[in-house]
Amino acid sequence: MTTTLGIDIGGTGIKGAPVDTATGELIAPRHRILTPDPATVDAVAGVAGEVARHFDWTAAIGATFPGVIADGVIRTAVNVDKDWIGTDVASVLSDACGGSPVTVRNDADAAGIAEMTFGAGRGRTDTVIMVTLGTGIGSAVFVDGHLVPNTELGGLPIRGKVAEKRAADSVRERDGLSWKQWAKRLEEYLGLLDDLLWPDLIIIGGGVSKKHDKFLPLLSTRAELVPAQLLNEAGIVGAAVSATV
Ligand code: BGC
Repeated sequence: MTTTLGIDIGGTGIKGAPVDTATGELIAPRHRILTPDPATVDAVAGVAGEVARHFDWTAAIGATFPGVIADGVIRTAVNVDKDWIGTDVASVLSDACGGSPVTVRNDADAAGIAEMTFGAGRGRTDTVIMVTLGTGIGSAVFVDGHLVPNTELGGLPIRGKVAEKRAADSVRERDGLSWKQWAKRLEEYLGLLDDLLWPDLIIIGGGVSKKHDKFLPLLSTRAELVPAQLLNEAGIVGAAVSATV
């Protein structure tokens, strides 16, 4: 059995667990710590190190980050401190985790990989978009099972505003939107994805996906619309799987 520690760094929480990368199963209960505020490089890396120490982890680690990562360097940081921009994220996290080798991917890309490998997208060769609804909106686009990394479709404009500032789950919570009010915003957003990319399948992930019965039935999209099967663990699993391929 290959076991890798997955650490999912989000705008609200940082969570990790050892993952059996052949089955995608967590082999110990996940450990979650709130994302420090401000979410600076030192503060976030410190928490990632705490997660690794919680599991006495010294082997390979896969991590996620909520921003664009190109050639191992963070290029955007919308929901974390701007001092991340320009950082060599793998080496910063490796130093914080006692020197373990670390591989890092965008959080939504990692979640998408997990769903394509073990969840709602398994076996799909057509166009699939995974959308993660949390502090922001993340996206992962797959064509014939291949990921187009860093798509950042939560940054698309809607009514003169960045889509994630209208339709992320954090906006629903902050503004006390009803499921119906939020679903209206979400449907407009998913309609934009339908028109831009003509996906065959849209997978809805993020923490709120465990309450999918509250809002998925209110949404109508051209693409088939399904909840993520790994729910909010997809980031951890995808991070771990990415580190071993
Ligand atoms: C970031 C994305 C991330 C998404 C979900 C956005 O604000 O720009 O990179 O995937 O939030 O965390």
